[in-house]
Amino acid sequence: MALDAFIAGMPKCELHLHIEGTLEPELKMLLAERNNVRMPYRTVEEARNAYNFDSLTSFLVGYYESMNVLLTEQDFYDLATAYLTKAASQNVRYAEIFFDPQAHTSRGVPFDIVIRGLRRAIMDGERLHGVRAQLIMCFLRDFSAEYAMATLLESLPYREWIVGVGLDSDERGNPPVKFEKVFARARREGYLLTAHCDIDQPDTHEHIRQCLDVLGVDRIDHGSNALEDEWLTEEIGRRGLGFTVCPVSNGFVTSDMKAAEIRRMLDLGLKVTINSDDPAYFLAYVTENLQAVQRKLDLTRDEVLRFERNAFEIAWLPRAAKDAYLAELDEYAATAAATAATPADAAD
Ligand code: ADE
Ligand code: ZN
Repeated sequence: MALDAFIAGMPKCELHLHIEGTLEPELKMLLAERNNVRMPYRTVEEARNAYNFDSLTSFLVGYYESMNVLLTEQDFYDLATAYLTKAASQNVRYAEIFFDPQAHTSRGVPFDIVIRGLRRAIMDGERLHGVRAQLIMCFLRDFSAEYAMATLLESLPYREWIVGVGLDSDERGNPPVKFEKVFARARREGYLLTAHCDIDQPDTHEHIRQCLDVLGVDRIDHGSNALEDEWLTEEIGRRGLGFTVCPVSNGFVTSDMKAAEIRRMLDLGLKVTINSDDPAYFLAYVTENLQAVQRKLDLTRDEVLRFERNAFEIAWLPRAAKDAYLAELDEYAATAAATAATPADAAD
C-alpha cells in the first residue's frame, strides 16, 4: 500500500543535500538575467531539457556549469531561501546542508560572499518557517589537497557557522587518503566529518575503508557498496555510523535506485536515512525520495518512520534537540495511527 500522505506529513530530517543542487531552472534563468551571465540555453524549458547524464561524472559537468549564475551574496541567499521554503512545505524540520565553496572561489567568487548569503538565509528560514539548518562545507576531491587545506583555513573565521566538513565531486582517482591531513586538521578545529562514498565507483571498498580508518568519519554519504564487504558492514555497524542514502539520485547516476541495499541496511539494523542529494537535477526532494523507496519495497509505516528516527538520531545536534524532534515524530505516528480510517490502515 502506498503511504504517500503519511510520508508527506511526517516531520523530516534531511542530511544529504547540496545547496548548489537545489538550483531550479527558473531561478537559474532569473539569476543569469540579473547577472548578465550567458548560458547555453535561453528559456527555462531549454535549461530543463539540457540535463543529460547517466553517471556521476556526466552529472557534475552540468552541475558546475550551472553555478556560473551564482555571483553575489544575494544570489546565495536566494538559492538557500528557495530551498528552505520548499523544505518547509515538505515538513522538513531540520536540514544539514552541503555547500561547495571551491566551486565558487575557483571562479573568483570570494568565500565570504558565499557563506554570508547562505548564513543569512538559514537565520531567516528558521525565523520565518521554523526550519532549522546547519552548514557542512565540502571539499572538491578532484582539486588538490593544498587547495582543500587553504579552504579549511579560510573557513576558520566562520567556524561557528559550519558544523562539519565533507568530501564530494568526482571520486575516480581521488581516494579519501589524499585528504588525510585536511581532515585531521578539520577534526582538531572541532568540525565533525563526513565523506561521499559514491555508488559503484572504482576501488569503492578501499575508499570506504579509508573513510573509516584514515579519515575517521562520523558518517558516510551514500556508501551502499559497503554491504558487499563483510568487514566494512560489521565495522560500520559496530561504530554506529549512519548512511545518508539518496535513492532517486542513485537511479540517475547508476541504473538502479539500490532499493535492495536499503532493505538490507534496514534488516541489519544499520542507521540508514533517505535524502535527496541534488533535487533540482534528480527531480525529487526528500518526500518524493521516501515515497519512491516505500513503494519499491512496499515498506510499512514503522519502517518509513525508522528512516526518520535514524536521521534525527545521527543528526549533528545536541541530545536535547534530537529528543525534541524524535518526540514530534512519535506524536505524529501516534496521531496517524489513531486516525487511520480502517483497522487495515492502522496495521500498516
Ligand atoms: N556533488 C553534488 N552531488 C554529488 C554527488 N552525489 N556525489 C559527489 N559529488 C556531488
Ligand atoms: Zn551528494
